[in-house]
Formats: sequence, structure tokens, C-alpha cells
Amino acid sequence: MWSSLLVLCAVATLSLAGPCDIYAAAGNTCVAAHATTRALYNAYSGSLYQLKRTSDGATTNIGPVSAGGVANAAAHDSFCASTTCLISIIYDQSGRGNHLTQGVPGGFNGPDVNGLDNLAGASGAPVLLNGKKAYGVFVSPGTGYRNDATNGIATGDTAEGMYAVLDGTHYNGGCCFDYGNAETSAHDTGAGHMEAIYFGTESVWGTGAGSGPWIMADLENGLYSGGSTGQHTADPTQTARFITGVVKGEPGLWSIRGAASTSSSLTTYWSGSRPSGYSPMSKEGAIILGIGGDNSNSAQGTFYEGAMLAGYPSDATENSVQANIASMDYATTSLASGSAVNVGSAISLRATTACCTSDYIYHSGTTVGIAPVSSSNSSAAKLTASWNVVSPLASEATGCISLQSRDTTGSYIRHQNFQLFLDANDGSQQFHEDATFCPQTGLNGQGNTFRPWGYPARNIRHFDFIAYIASDGGVQTFDTTSTYNDDASFVVSAAWA
Ligand SMILES: *[C@@H]1O[C@H](CO)[C@@H](O)[C@H](O)[C@H]1NC(C)=O
Repeated sequence: MWSSLLVLCAVATLSLAGPCDIYAAAGNTCVAAHATTRALYNAYSGSLYQLKRTSDGATTNIGPVSAGGVANAAAHDSFCASTTCLISIIYDQSGRGNHLTQGVPGGFNGPDVNGLDNLAGASGAPVLLNGKKAYGVFVSPGTGYRNDATNGIATGDTAEGMYAVLDGTHYNGGCCFDYGNAETSAHDTGAGHMEAIYFGTESVWGTGAGSGPWIMADLENGLYSGGSTGQHTADPTQTARFITGVVKGEPGLWSIRGAASTSSSLTTYWSGSRPSGYSPMSKEGAIILGIGGDNSNSAQGTFYEGAMLAGYPSDATENSVQANIASMDYATTSLASGSAVNVGSAISLRATTACCTSDYIYHSGTTVGIAPVSSSNSSAAKLTASWNVVSPLASEATGCISLQSRDTTGSYIRHQNFQLFLDANDGSQQFHEDATFCPQTGLNGQGNTFRPWGYPARNIRHFDFIAYIASDGGVQTFDTTSTYNDDASFVVSAAWA
């Protein structure tokens, strides 16, 4: 009787254990546990992240629906309705207070008016965990989080481990989309002062097999795929939509591991000695997300969950955590909301601001703006305000679209330096991303708002008759909060021509 009860309890505990319960059972306590998608402990029911909305500056905390569960996306959606939301705090679930907040200026400054990094647009990375919606942290270039005054994070030559679940299709070659241990000064203090998971195609120091992206380690003054600079082909190009990355180090040994997040275990890409000049380690114990240790902030990527561990976890412990991640069945979901803007249709987009309700999004050469269109315009003029809705050029952007010109073959609306242009598709990843927009419910209740896939804190808005991707308040004149929701809402109709 007692023994069967004990067995039942043990089975229940095992099946319900979160990643940090699994690590703790192996003696590798989570000293920081960050996830906007779910609780990382079976018993955790506290806050996962804080939202800040642009309409009134109000904040709210989002927790799991129940202890140990997936984040309350319904509360997120309701708080963020009719406005733009940012993730202002990613809470540490470990109880050590190692929360991540807006990255501070360092060797590099952020784009914020105060030199801070930007906060992530809160709704740019919807995801399903076992069919339940949650949001990841979508890091656009210029976005970053940090904690320079941590508690319990490894310093010096002390052992540590870490893992992160990331979007394997959201990356670039900028420096550096990292999660892990960095300098407390936000300045480059030399080789071995960092130990962080890196993901992307930055190839200045090291690469893996193929053309990337790769899971590598940012050890400061270098991204490493093995025990030296250059290529280590055991570190593969990642191709899965969801990936798990692991970096761990102890005196005389370090490893990189990874896998598709649906895999039952991780593969070791490197385990061995440190590059010359990196031993002993000089870890400082700050935590970064989305940036390099010196606040280099030109990278992009998406973070769903991760933790920093005490000690050097065994491969077996990490494989158990990986099995837990796989059991969550991370899956994609649509980034669109509101009235459908159907692929295959031909549309025009009418402005809804009081000044301009007869104006439509049009192009004049490569410039995109708004201009009046009526039945008396020539068909050539009408064509400048007519768009084919096509599948998103960034094919990973589920539910999003691209807008192809109806009078200029092969050209699409794309953003560059936050302004919209009509340019020919050059086939690059950058163009595909810059030409991908995700229709949302119109911010002012009319029509649709078009959120650029790569910058979910922004929306297409007209300002002085030119079209931009603008934030609701920010450093540029076109980011003004004045009439923002109206300027960013467009009524979709059949194409003029
Ligand atoms: C349509 O005609 C009006 C009146 O001539 C003109 O002001 C406007 O610029 C034209 N629209 C376009 C898109 O050319």
C-alpha cells in the first residue's frame, strides 16, 4: 500500500517536473530561470514577465495559467488590445531575483533616447506549447536585456551550465544574439570574461558546418564552435524551427550541445579544451539576453525559455531536460489577428486618420506614402495604389503577408531604416524579412494594422504623407504618439486597379 503510493508519487513528480526541478534533482540548481512561455518549476505560479503598453504606460505581470503551467496568453492579449505592448521585465523564477530588464549602454549604446536598448515588442513571437498559446521574446536589432547585479551566478573559474530554447529561423549575422554570463560593466574586459549561448551566422571568429545558423559560445572576444577559432564541422547548421542550445564550462573543460527542441536528447557539438588564452575562466556573472557582453546590439533572434545552472550538469541531466522540452511540443501559430487579409487577393489600403480618409497607400517611384485616389484618377495612378497580397517572403512568418506592386513587376513594399520603399526583391534574407508584414486588428478599431515581422514593437504608419514602420513614441519624429493608432490603421478594400 505505502510502497505503491510512493511509486505513484514518484511517477507523478517525474512526469510533472519542470526543467529546474530536473536540474535540482541532479544537484544543478537553477540560479536564474527565465521563460515568458511557461513556468520552469512544477510548483512555480509567480510572474513570468511584465508587460508595458504604449497607450497609457501601464504595466501588468503575466504568470502561468496554473502552477507549473503555460503563460496566460489571454491576459496578455487582453492587456495589449488596441495598443502596442513591450516586454519590460523577464522575471527570474529561481527566487534569486535575477530578473532581466532593459539593457544599459555599454561599449555600445542602444537606440533608445537614453542610450538604453529597446524592449522587445511583446506580441511578435506567439507560439504553442501543447496547443496552448504563449509568447516568446522577439529580439529585433537594437533590443536587449541585462542584469549586472546578480545573485548566485558563476564568477571566475567556477563551473556553470545553461540552456535556452530559441527560434531556429530567426537570426542574422550581427553581434550578438546571446543568452548567458557576461561582464558586469557592459564593456569588453577581455577573453574568457563571458560564457554565453550564441545563435546566428556571425562568422568572424568561428563557424560550424555549412552556412549556418549555428549554436556557438560567446566567450568574449570570440564566438567559438570548438576549442579554437575557425570551423568545427561537428557544430551543424540548425534547420529546425525550435532549437535547444546548451553551453557549459568548468575548469579545463567546456561543451556546446544542441538539438531540435522536438528531439528526445541533445547532441554534443564540442566537448574539450578551451581556446588558448581562455583558461582559467574570468566569468563576471552578469546575465545578458539578445546582446553581446559589451552591449553590441545588432543581432536578432527569439528566446522562449532558458536557465543558468550551478555546476557542470551531466549530459544525462541535460537530456532529461531536453525530454521535458520535447514534451511541451513547441509549435508555430499565426502571427495575424483581426480581419483576414487573404493571400491571392488584390487590395488597396485606405488611411483612417481624419485628415486623410480619401488617401491610400501608394508608391511614387520607390517612395511609399499616401495620396488621394478616386474613380477619376487614371488607371496608371490607381495601379500605384494597388497591391497583390502574396505569401510572406519570410516564409517562417506564419499568417503574415507581403505586398507586391501591381504595376512594377517583382517589386514589394519593404522597410529600410524604418521607412517604406518599393524595391525589387533581391532574394536576400534581409529583403524577405523587410518585406513581411503581419496583419492585426486595426489599432483604432478600423481595418487592419500592419506589423513588420522583424520589428514587432512597430507598425506601418503614415506621417507627413510618407509611410514608415513607427513605434508609438520613440526617438524619430515619425514615432510621435500623436494620432498614432489612426495613422497605423488602414481599411482594406478591393484594389483600385
Ligand atoms: C489622383 O488624382 C488627384 C487629383 O488630380 C491627385 O491629387 C492624386 O495625386 C492622384 N492620385 C494618385 C495616386 O496619383
